[in-house]
Amino acid sequence: MSTALVILAAGKGTRMNSDMPKVLHQIANAPMLVHTMQAGAALAPEHTVVVAGHGFDAVKAAAEDFDPDAKVVLQAEQNGTAHAANMARETLADFDGDVIVLFGDTPFISADTLERMIAARADNAVVVLGFEAADAGKYGRLIMDGTSLERIVEFADASDEERAVTFCNSGVMLAKRQDLFDLIDAVGSDNAQGELYLTDIVGIARAQGLAVTAVTCEEAETLGINSRAHLAQAEAVFQSRARVELLDLGVTLQQPETVMLSFDTVIGRDTVIEPNVYFGPGVTVESGTRIRAFSHLEGCHVSRGGTVGPYARLRPGAELAEHVHVGNFVEIKNAEVGEGTKINHLSYIGDATLGRTTNIGAGTITCNYDGVMKHHTTIGSNAFIGSNTMLVAPVSVGNEAMTGSGSVITKDVPDAALALARADQVTKPGVARKLFDILKKKKLKRDQESQ
Ligand code: UD1
Ligand code: CA
Repeated sequence: MSTALVILAAGKGTRMNSDMPKVLHQIANAPMLVHTMQAGAALAPEHTVVVAGHGFDAVKAAAEDFDPDAKVVLQAEQNGTAHAANMARETLADFDGDVIVLFGDTPFISADTLERMIAARADNAVVVLGFEAADAGKYGRLIMDGTSLERIVEFADASDEERAVTFCNSGVMLAKRQDLFDLIDAVGSDNAQGELYLTDIVGIARAQGLAVTAVTCEEAETLGINSRAHLAQAEAVFQSRARVELLDLGVTLQQPETVMLSFDTVIGRDTVIEPNVYFGPGVTVESGTRIRAFSHLEGCHVSRGGTVGPYARLRPGAELAEHVHVGNFVEIKNAEVGEGTKINHLSYIGDATLGRTTNIGAGTITCNYDGVMKHHTTIGSNAFIGSNTMLVAPVSVGNEAMTGSGSVITKDVPDAALALARADQVTKPGVARKLFDILKKKKLKRDQESQ
């Protein structure tokens, strides 16, 4: 049986207290909507329909960025979850299969859970995902009758007795396409919020003699995000899972709880991550490398056997070949660094190409920006860039070339040449001692006057 995903994401998320639609708030540097889409993608759905309303254009862009085949439909007014799901009706008109409804603000449903729901569909017209809540709060309550789900009652409409139930609605539902939309047709808005509740399809299905059941999952999977506090909780849940995954893959995290990962971070086996390292989006670190404490990486690639940090910053387009060393207070952006090259101290390397086994001295800077445009620096292999060299781009330094410390290099340096571009030294014998004498006498006089 093929499946279609319908992701409800039209709500404003008032409690986020934000100008941005709720589902675009990020967890591990990806919108929560993308996490939901990723969860649903595990089912290899035939269709993905995202129902958007608040911030429609931005939500559409984020959805299509993740999945260009996703269909984003408009729910102009938010009249409730049944009304929202109904917006997918036209798109799925010719679809013959199961529809699974997910919420854009409930991003952590696992593939295993979705598969268990699909298995339960064999004997049921409607399958709802529930969970035992530690604090049931305002979740809808699942009213069971043995293994059958009788109905769902929203918190606002529940009696005290019903509110005492701790088995709650995650919002995820599964039904055959035809059944889902037929049931939605029967939903009314006679309830505390005057909305069309998708949850009402359960009672309606039962009244029609259809079988309905609930599948249970861990509460952590159903974490629904309604506030910044929930968002922070969701981030913590994501991070702790992602760290455990890395540990299982053979990555050492010396102090796991201090390492921040992104939704797409890839780290190879036998790599060691020291404490307080931040992985922004788009980072790949190969096997057997060491990322030292307090480093910040994003949009970069570190090949095997490298070391980065402590206190290094790798920005988008930093591409390090094997066995590259990047040391403390070094920033690298949009630059290819050849195998075995060392940039160990206090440098900025931006918009550059560096060859193999070259040594970049402390304090070297590629001056890539003239205030209007960016320019490229090229350095060959086995070169030696003296400490505190300013490379004023566009400029190139050849293979096996050298620059003298403190040079400001404005012209290309050919292979094997030494370039010196600094003022000549002036040395005056005995002058230091005389100067010291004068200064000491001055200080003595000042001290006596102030007594
Ligand atoms: C919903 C459920 C509740 C469940 C809870 C789990 C209903 C009636 N209630 O309540 O049983 O315990 O989720 O988190 O379904 N949305 C739209 N258009 C609308 C209304 C909502 O797209 O007109 C979207 C929201 O953007 C959100 C999702 O549907 O992603 C859930 O809506 P929300 O208002 O947060 O429902 P809850 O009150 O949390
Ligand atoms: Ca909600």
